[in-house]
Amino acid sequence: MSKIELVAPCNFGVEAVLSREIKNLGYEIIRVEDGRVSFMANEEGICRSNLWLRTAERVLVKIDEFEALSFEELFEKTKRLQWYRWIPKDAEFPVSKASSIKSKLFSTSDIQAIVKKAVVESMKAKYKQQWFDETGERYPIHVFLNRDKAALYLDTSGLSLHKRGYRELSNSAPIKETLAAAMVLLTPWKPERAFIDPFCGSGTIPIEAAMIGLNIAPGHGRNFVSGSWRWIESKLWNRAKEEAGSMVKHNAALNVQGYDIDESALRIARTNMKLAGLEDKIHFQKRDIKELSSKDRYGFIVTNPPYGERLSDRNSVLSLYKEMGKVFSKLETWSFYIITANEEFERFFGKRADRKRKLYNGMMKADLYQFFGPKPPKPAVNVAASLEIVD
Ligand SMILES: C[S@@+](CC[C@H](N)C(=O)[O-])C[C@H]1O[C@@H](n2cnc3c(N)ncnc32)[C@H](O)[C@@H]1O
Repeated sequence: MSKIELVAPCNFGVEAVLSREIKNLGYEIIRVEDGRVSFMANEEGICRSNLWLRTAERVLVKIDEFEALSFEELFEKTKRLQWYRWIPKDAEFPVSKASSIKSKLFSTSDIQAIVKKAVVESMKAKYKQQWFDETGERYPIHVFLNRDKAALYLDTSGLSLHKRGYRELSNSAPIKETLAAAMVLLTPWKPERAFIDPFCGSGTIPIEAAMIGLNIAPGHGRNFVSGSWRWIESKLWNRAKEEAGSMVKHNAALNVQGYDIDESALRIARTNMKLAGLEDKIHFQKRDIKELSSKDRYGFIVTNPPYGERLSDRNSVLSLYKEMGKVFSKLETWSFYIITANEEFERFFGKRADRKRKLYNGMMKADLYQFFGPKPPKPAVNVAASLEIVD
């Protein structure tokens, strides 16, 4: 098995959570940068990281990185690489993504065309043929230029990893699945503790929490483009899928609830829950935030309330935050994790967060306001039962 450098791009602000996920899978982190974590793995690592990483947007194989100040330099240095090691003779190899930041070369369509031409030339020289039909499996190439440094990758995921396969339906402002998972992973929540999203919309946060609570791999219901790659033996994929199946904690106690004022959003949430294979694992119910209450203690609220993107919504959203402050204060032992882009949140909620963390919901900057509740008391030891009776 070879050592491969993998790069997992992620939402800005979740690099530390993603690093922890990668370490937990057993891989060595080699670099953490804004919006990406690099690590070393082998072929099996490609299967396992695609299946398991909840906060990565995709998993890329790094081919090379070099300075490219002109198209000629980009062409020559790309052509020099041993593409045949990765891409078989009959494979499809589109340059499906290009980006450029603060670089001399900025036309992404030209960058894509030059890289494609260079890869074809490199393959021609190796395979001794002039034309490639590209009828085989797909190896998407990504190229990113940052400050005149070009980095070339093969995309192993295909569809972005936030597309778990359960959200066929969504309401108007769903949160990304990867960000919802990051919010849950930023809490010390354990499945036996109560969990409520009182603004659940299409159910993304409760669904991600339930998958975490039951240790279900987020990619269990979908395919990945590298699933058909020739140099990743199918037994590696099978083994990774079997491992994921065997790790599900089917009988874990779970107390996850999702509430919303909008019945149509709740219908979508219930459908998504079934598509995620979580039938009956989450309790979705119509409830106005004003009616929020719970008999449970030491629970968690993790939520993404409306943030008033339209001017006309502004006042109603601010009074909603006031209402949240009022009802949440009755849940004295609970912890709250609230993401919003509205900078007036704390003022209207009526309390300063114990900690604030910058996260990006897509391109939108938001803050995760964290209010920590007390730790539950340690369960009392039954002294009589633990004493050995000596005659
Ligand atoms: C930003 S969306 C949440 C999106 C959700 N995270 C998802 O992934 O679909 C906010 C939700 O708050 C709900 N909402 C608005 N006012 C409410 C209220 N007073 N009580 C409960 N839910 C409310 C809306 O119906 C909407 O679904």
